[in-house]
Amino acid sequence: MNLIVSITGASGAVFGRELLRALETDQRVSQVHFVASENSLRVIAEELGVSGRTQCLEKLLDAKPTKTVQHSDADIGASIASGSYPSSGMIVLPCSMGTLASIANGLANSLIARAADVTLKERRPLILCVRETPFNRIHLRNMMLAAEAGAVIFPVIPAFYNKPVDSAEMARQFVCRVLAHIGLPQHGAFVWKAEE
Ligand SMILES: Cc1cc2nc3c(=O)[nH]c(=O)nc-3n(C[C@H](O)[C@H](O)[C@H](O)COP(=O)(O)O)c2cc1C
Repeated sequence: MNLIVSITGASGAVFGRELLRALETDQRVSQVHFVASENSLRVIAEELGVSGRTQCLEKLLDAKPTKTVQHSDADIGASIASGSYPSSGMIVLPCSMGTLASIANGLANSLIARAADVTLKERRPLILCVRETPFNRIHLRNMMLAAEAGAVIFPVIPAFYNKPVDSAEMARQFVCRVLAHIGLPQHGAFVWKAEE
């Protein structure tokens, strides 16, 4: 698999970080294309204490990347901006309402929006992990538009029945659900078993 991962400026940078870490260690994944929106950098700094554009990826992974390459959101000439590049799909985690609006309305005005547009037109999986509360009617309408175009709306709504002890564990289990959805079931994923 060869995936595109984007972090945008919604709350929940820890979820994006755990996704990147899971993909780095997953042998079934050959390459990860990572794009952080300009506004996500502010949220990443606020929530994770990781500041600056340079070495952002390395700091998020807490290691040198082995298969993840970062692109600038302004680089609309990157490989993933073209349908000729055979990606296996794209995950936006977390997905802000601004990025949702761009994708739902086909603006293709940044690398993230363009790569998502390409993913939809090529009928590849696009998972939008939206995060906002409460939603206004514009958000709801845009989610419907994106879903009608083929995206999966996968809101950042973590589970509690696995009794997570901290936000990183909560994020890891959420990421397990996202990756299972795209065909990469994870070791260590909590599976609910009703009492017998
Ligand atoms: C600390 C912080 C938290 C934010 N949380 C959210 C959020 O949960 N959802 C959202 O849609 N926007 C949120 N925003 C606002 C977005 O960052 C803002 O709308 C931005 O323009 C989104 O740009 P992007 O989609 O290019 O990343 C937050 C901003 C900050 C600074």
